[in-house]
Amino acid sequence: MKSTTVIKTSDVENFELKLRQAADTLHSGGLVAFPTETVYGLGADAFNEDAVRRVYRVKGRPADNPLIVHIASLHRAELFAEEIPFKGRKLAEIFWPGPLTLVMAGKSNIPSIVTAGLSTVALRVPKNTATLRLLELFGGGIVGPSANLSGKPSPTEAEHVLSDLDGSIDVLIDDGRTTIGIESTVLDVTFDPPLILRQGGLSREAIEKVIGHTELPGHGSVLGRSPGTCHRHYAPKAQLILVRESDSENFQRLYEDFRRQKKNVAAITHSIRVSGTSHSTRYMENSAEEYARNIFRLLRECDILGVDVILVEEIEERGIGAAVMDRLRRAAEC
Ligand code: TXA
Ligand code: MG
Repeated sequence: MKSTTVIKTSDVENFELKLRQAADTLHSGGLVAFPTETVYGLGADAFNEDAVRRVYRVKGRPADNPLIVHIASLHRAELFAEEIPFKGRKLAEIFWPGPLTLVMAGKSNIPSIVTAGLSTVALRVPKNTATLRLLELFGGGIVGPSANLSGKPSPTEAEHVLSDLDGSIDVLIDDGRTTIGIESTVLDVTFDPPLILRQGGLSREAIEKVIGHTELPGHGSVLGRSPGTCHRHYAPKAQLILVRESDSENFQRLYEDFRRQKKNVAAITHSIRVSGTSHSTRYMENSAEEYARNIFRLLRECDILGVDVILVEEIEERGIGAAVMDRLRRAAEC
C-alpha cells in the first residue's frame, strides 16, 4: 500500500513549496485531504472524472450523493455556476469564506459524477488559511466530501482522516483540530425562499438576518429514505440514546439499567451530572458551539473504547444547536 504524505501547517519551513506540490498532485489526478473550519475534506480536481471517481471509491460513498466543489473566492464561482441568484450572492459576500454551501444552477461542462447527474452544483469557500492558499495555487475547483469512510462520524482531526484513509489518499494537510466541528450549512438558492438542505455551521437565524425567510423541509423529505433503511451517516458503532435536557432522573435510570446489563455505557452531558460513572463520561460546557466542536471526536472515541451505549443529553435547538441535534438524531436512529 502506498503511504500518505502528511504536510503539517505547524511546519512552516518550505510550507509554500509543499502546498505547491499538493496542488500539482491534484493537477495530476491525485487525492489531497484538506482542513476546513468545519471538518476535513477529501479533495480532487472537480474537472477530472477519474480522480472524482476515486474519491467515491475510497470513501465507499454511494454514487447518487453529489459533492461540494470548493473554490478560492466568489469570483471563481462563475467557473461552475450558470447563474448566481441575488440572495446567494448577498450571502456569499457576507459569509464566504465560511461554513455555508450554496446550491446553484450548474454549468453543463461539470462532470456529472460531481453533481450526481443533477443540474445544480454546490459551491463553498472554506475558511482555512492553508486550504485557501491551496485553492489559489490550484486555480480551479476541488471536490470535497468529508474525508472519512462513508457512514463514520466526520473527521475533525488529521488523525481521524488517517485512521479511515491512510494509504488510500496521496496527501493530507494536517492543521490540527477544526474550529466548528460539524459540516457546512447547505442552502439551495435556486428556490425562493431558499431551501435549507442540511443544517450546519452557519445558523438559520444568521442566514435569515440577511435574506429573510428560508424553508426547512421536513426531516424525512430531506433524507429521502424509505422506511426500514438505516442512514448510517454520523453514526458510531454503539447505540446512541438521546435524553431530554436536564432530565437527570431519566438519564440516571437509563445509565444504571444498562450498567446492570453489563453494558459499557458512555455519557455525554452538559447540565446533568451522573453518579457512579466510568471513564467514558464527558461533561461539556452548556454551549452548542462546544457540542459541535467535540461531538464527532467523542463518538469516534467511544468506538475506540468499545462502548456499547452512548447516552447524550440534548441541547437547545438554537443557533448551531439545531445542526448538532440534527446529527445526533440521525445517529440515534440507527
Ligand atoms: O463542511 C462541509 O460541507 C464539508 C467540508 C469538507 O467542506 N463537506 C461535506 O461534504 O460535508 P459531504 O459530501 O459530506 O456533504 C455534502 C452535502 C451532501 O448532503 C450532498 O447531498 C449535498 O451536500 N450536495 C452536494 N451537491 C448538491 C447538489 N447539487 N444539490 C443538493 N445537494 C447537494
Ligand atoms: Mg460527509
